[in-house]
Amino acid sequence: MTLSTELLPTPFLRNYWKKQHAFISGGMPEAVDIVDLKTLCRLAEEPIVESRLVKHIGEDWHLFQGPFEEQTFSEISDPWSLLVQAVDFHLPEVQALWAKFQFLPTWLRDDIMISYSVNGGGVGPHFDHYDVFLIQVSGKRNWKIGQPCGENEALREGVELGVLEQFHLSAEYTTHPGDILYLPPRLAHWGTALSDDCITLSVGFRAPSMSEAIMGLSDYIATELGEFTRLPIPSSPSSSLGQITSEQLHAAKASLRDALSDDAAFAAWFGQQMSTPKYPEDFETSDITDRKRGDAVLLRADSRIAYYRTDIELLFFANGYSLQLPLDLEAEVKSLCAMEVQQAIPSNTDSRLLNFLIEADALLSEPAD
Ligand code: SIN
Ligand code: CO
Repeated sequence: MTLSTELLPTPFLRNYWKKQHAFISGGMPEAVDIVDLKTLCRLAEEPIVESRLVKHIGEDWHLFQGPFEEQTFSEISDPWSLLVQAVDFHLPEVQALWAKFQFLPTWLRDDIMISYSVNGGGVGPHFDHYDVFLIQVSGKRNWKIGQPCGENEALREGVELGVLEQFHLSAEYTTHPGDILYLPPRLAHWGTALSDDCITLSVGFRAPSMSEAIMGLSDYIATELGEFTRLPIPSSPSSSLGQITSEQLHAAKASLRDALSDDAAFAAWFGQQMSTPKYPEDFETSDITDRKRGDAVLLRADSRIAYYRTDIELLFFANGYSLQLPLDLEAEVKSLCAMEVQQAIPSNTDSRLLNFLIEADALLSEPAD
């Protein structure tokens, strides 16, 4: 399916998001040549940057974890791909591309991964659990679209990358610089570079698993409850020693269900969870308090903020922390959440908000020009 030259939010969300793939020819001219191999190699040398190298040897794909030295790449004789995660956290020009996705909540953003491949390079046929916009930056890539994948989709044994055993071709595209290919979760795809300068950017969104969410929520509620509250187990008479009666089972289940369905606890946990940064370990006490007069204060590219409004208050979230605020701060919170990271935080921002963002390490300062 080919859309017009822009991402049109309403029809896109209605017709494609989570449903079917879309090829948008020339949909992102801003991405053309936005990054080059040298810059990617420089990032891949950094230990704090997550990077991977995939070599396509014969019929197989082999995965190596970064960091890498630049000379590693010149020594590879097989087709290869270098994948660098979260490039948007390091390059403001890449971060700026998120402004094109303002039709989706900011807290659903995961990161922008960028791959470089030589001719024939790629990561093989696979599926991802999340929505992704694949945008061509330079060179050409062939994309094969396959089948929607189920829970029991067979993966090739012994290949760390999750390469699919079976691939049933359903559509095929060649992406040129500026083209976008949107893929919904779990749709099989297979990209192969058609030139030596093939750079592709993956704008990825988050898809927390149910099991992760259940573990996170129950952990949160367990901490809130502490040791004092105990499971009510009625001592109902039973005809057989050792029998658990349905009355006992239902009483225990009902009290667990009540604890897990507390609305206030759920909202607090959800906001904290969705605002937790991708790499929380990268957050150290920021030097923002040492800022000089006139320095611009910006949101860190890797921080996440969000808010939730109840009838009586606001819950403001930053990097996994929460703050209760009165409703009259709604306009201010709303405009902070709508800011892209390159914009300076207004100097008249309410001090409660500012102090909370500082505590949550969500800010950085930049010297005034
Ligand atoms: C790539 O850019 O080569 C891989 C992206 C993907 O298939 O998810
Ligand atoms: Co993929």
